[in-house]
Amino acid sequence: MPHTADPLAPIGVFDSGVGGLSVLRALRQKLPGESFIYVADSGHGPYGDRSPDFIEVRANALAGFLVSHRVKALVLACNTASVVAASRLRAQYTLPIVALEPAIKPAVLLTVTKVVLVLATTNTIRSPSVANLCSTYGAEVNIILQPCPGLMEQVERGLFKHSETRRLLEKYIMPGLAAGADTIVLGCTHYAFLAEEIALIAGVSVSLVEPSEAIARQLMRRLATPPAPCHTPTEAAFYTSGSPAALADFLSSVGEPHSQVYALPTAHNS
Ligand code: DGL
Repeated sequence: MPHTADPLAPIGVFDSGVGGLSVLRALRQKLPGESFIYVADSGHGPYGDRSPDFIEVRANALAGFLVSHRVKALVLACNTASVVAASRLRAQYTLPIVALEPAIKPAVLLTVTKVVLVLATTNTIRSPSVANLCSTYGAEVNIILQPCPGLMEQVERGLFKHSETRRLLEKYIMPGLAAGADTIVLGCTHYAFLAEEIALIAGVSVSLVEPSEAIARQLMRRLATPPAPCHTPTEAAFYTSGSPAALADFLSSVGEPHSQVYALPTAHNS
C-alpha cells in the first residue's frame, strides 16, 4: 500500500502495552516538531508467551489502524512484535518500518568480563533473530539469555518499586551477575521503566544497554521526508486496547499528565 509523503503526517508507534512509551520518549526528544500516534495493546498483552500467529494478527491490526491515520512511518516499539512480525509488515507496507531487537551488538562491544545478560520475553529469547545475533556477535562472549515472565505485567500496573517486582528482578538478574555479567541488555521495552531498580540490584559496575536512542537515530535516517519544522512542541495522541483511564494514569505517573487518551476502535481491537 503506498504511503503518504506528507512531512506533517504523524509517526505511528505501537507496543503490546506501555513499554514502548520508553521509546516514544526518546523519539520525541530527538525529533522535535514531529507528531506521534501511540498505540498500547494492553488489552491483548503480554505478547511474551503468546503464539506467533496471535502476535502477527495483533501487529497487523495495530499497523492497519496507524496506516489508516496516514502515518509516514511505523515504529515497532516492542522487541517481541518485531522479532515475530516485522518482516511480514515490511512485505505488506511500503512506508519506513523501524523495528527493535535486543541490543546484543553494543553490549558485546561494551563488556569487559565477556559475560552479557539479556533480559527479554520468552518469545524474544527463543526467536531466530536473537539466535542470529548470538551467533554473529557471541563468539568470544558468554551471552546469557534470560526470559522474564511476569515483569511486563508489573510495569503495566505501574508497580516499578513493588516487592514482587523486586523479587522477580532478583530472580532473573542474580544468576547472571553470579556468572560474571557486567552488561545487561534490556531486551523488552517495558524493562526501561525498571532501569533504576535493575541498577540498584546490579550495582554501579554493571552497564545497562537499551535501544531507544539508537531507534530514534535510525528513524531519523529512515524518514522519507525532511523532519517536520521544530518550532512547535511535539504532539502525541494515545490509543489503547485496554483501559484508557489506566493508560492516562500511567502517563501521569511517568510525567505525561493531560495526554489525549482514546479507546482503540473495535475494528482493530478483537
Ligand atoms: N514490550 C514488549 C517487548 O519489547 C513485550 C512485552 C510483552 O508483551 O510481553 O518485547
